[in-house]
Amino acid sequence: MAATEIDLSQLPPGPTGPSALIAARFLLRGSRFLEDSCKRYGPVFSVRLNTGRTVVIAGDPAIAKEVFQGGGDDLHAGAGNVILKPILGARSVLLLDGPEHLRQRRLLLPPFHGERMRAYAETMREVAERHISQWPVGRPFSVHPTMQDVTLEIILRTVFGVDEPARIKRLAEPMKRLLNSTDQPLRLLLLQLTRSAGAKPRSPWGRVFALMAPVDALIHEQIAERRAADGQDPDRDDILSLQLAARDEDGNGLTDAELRDELMTLLLAGHETTATALAWTVERLVRTPRVLGRLLDEVESGESTDYLDATIKEALRLRPVVPGVIRQLQRPLTIGGMELPKGVNVAPSIYLIHRRPDVYPEPHAFRPERFLGEDTPSTYEWLPFGGGIRRCLGASFALYEMRIVLETVLRRATLETTDAPSEPVKRRFVTFTPRDGGRVRVTQLAPAQAPTRAVTA
Ligand code: HEM
Repeated sequence: MAATEIDLSQLPPGPTGPSALIAARFLLRGSRFLEDSCKRYGPVFSVRLNTGRTVVIAGDPAIAKEVFQGGGDDLHAGAGNVILKPILGARSVLLLDGPEHLRQRRLLLPPFHGERMRAYAETMREVAERHISQWPVGRPFSVHPTMQDVTLEIILRTVFGVDEPARIKRLAEPMKRLLNSTDQPLRLLLLQLTRSAGAKPRSPWGRVFALMAPVDALIHEQIAERRAADGQDPDRDDILSLQLAARDEDGNGLTDAELRDELMTLLLAGHETTATALAWTVERLVRTPRVLGRLLDEVESGESTDYLDATIKEALRLRPVVPGVIRQLQRPLTIGGMELPKGVNVAPSIYLIHRRPDVYPEPHAFRPERFLGEDTPSTYEWLPFGGGIRRCLGASFALYEMRIVLETVLRRATLETTDAPSEPVKRRFVTFTPRDGGRVRVTQLAPAQAPTRAVTA
């Protein structure tokens, strides 16, 4: 059955009106749309978008659990991520489903295990130190672009194994332009509504392709060079080298075309999300002097990172970068007691689950203590990285990187606290970002390694 034929009266009620208007509100006012709909219809509601898709949005941990435990053949993610296809390519792990997805995932997983992260710690710290030491002192600026520079360089060095500054610049510049081109919600809406196939040069997709061309060329260059140097440097520990050596159970490795799509996926999924999470954490910290003070005490003592890790978790709870995930039913299924037809999409809403007052008392308060001690939220109540067979491959990498970058920020920069209103949530591609990029004022930059204190505005 086509998605357009789905009978809405069989589904939980949700916002009514022209589907184009609903889609526009969903895209342009994402967080407000979710909160308003939840208030009016409860945590589980349906929306029909003008793309012909019907989506049951579920701010319910029990439904998230059912979806994440569901079989990869019954619940497809590729259809939900289709907007990313022209950029990531059809062989990206984010777009594959069923056995193909599992094969690709198994090939990609080994370099992302927690233990391996230690190998990347030095690079992460060095990159963070260098970028933070260039922060302006005494005048407000947005941290998001600088965090993008940090996370992009980290991904280029650890995943691609690119070390030469000139080549990093050659890759970073077009990549940033590509991402910034999706910054305008209206442009994003146009991309959603127009076809990428056969796009004319001046069309929305044509412009994206023009920006992608140099990134693509450099990725292919990198793959070719590394293949040519096969085995000559056994000490290489970057992820591309490990991917080149990876074999599935039949002894087959990744083809160049697969590698291109996976590298593009890791490049995109791996840096923009982490940069945004870092910007949100700083945005929250400068508005919560109590938490900033306690963090500085912890960093100064150097005894543990428990409170820092809890702060990162709390930032990812209150400001999840990816607001939800989406799965399309390949056959009729009963989920959360609802009998759902084939073709309908179910979207566990990370954003709404993280704001449930029954799980998180005073959900709008920024309180890392929620993640200390015994009684911490369960797997399906805290899910910034999704769950099940598609849980974020880079979750350990991202958490480790966030810890190192934030620790460096806290050691080097004296952040001025503020009572300015919270920055509103703005959609940027598939993420929720701080509208002003996390504005901060640094009053002092300490030399490397010396801990500093916060000052109150
Ligand atoms: C704070 C940072 C990050 C957040 C919030 C985040 C969030 C997510 C979420 C929610 C998903 C699940 C999508 C779905 O179920 O449809 C996902 C998948 C994925 N993420 Fe991340 N991510 C982050 C960082 C990273 C990093 C650093 C990398 C790689 C270096 C990465 C690579 C991936 C990949 C490859 C997938 C697809 C997994 C699959 O389909 O099997 N992510 N991410």
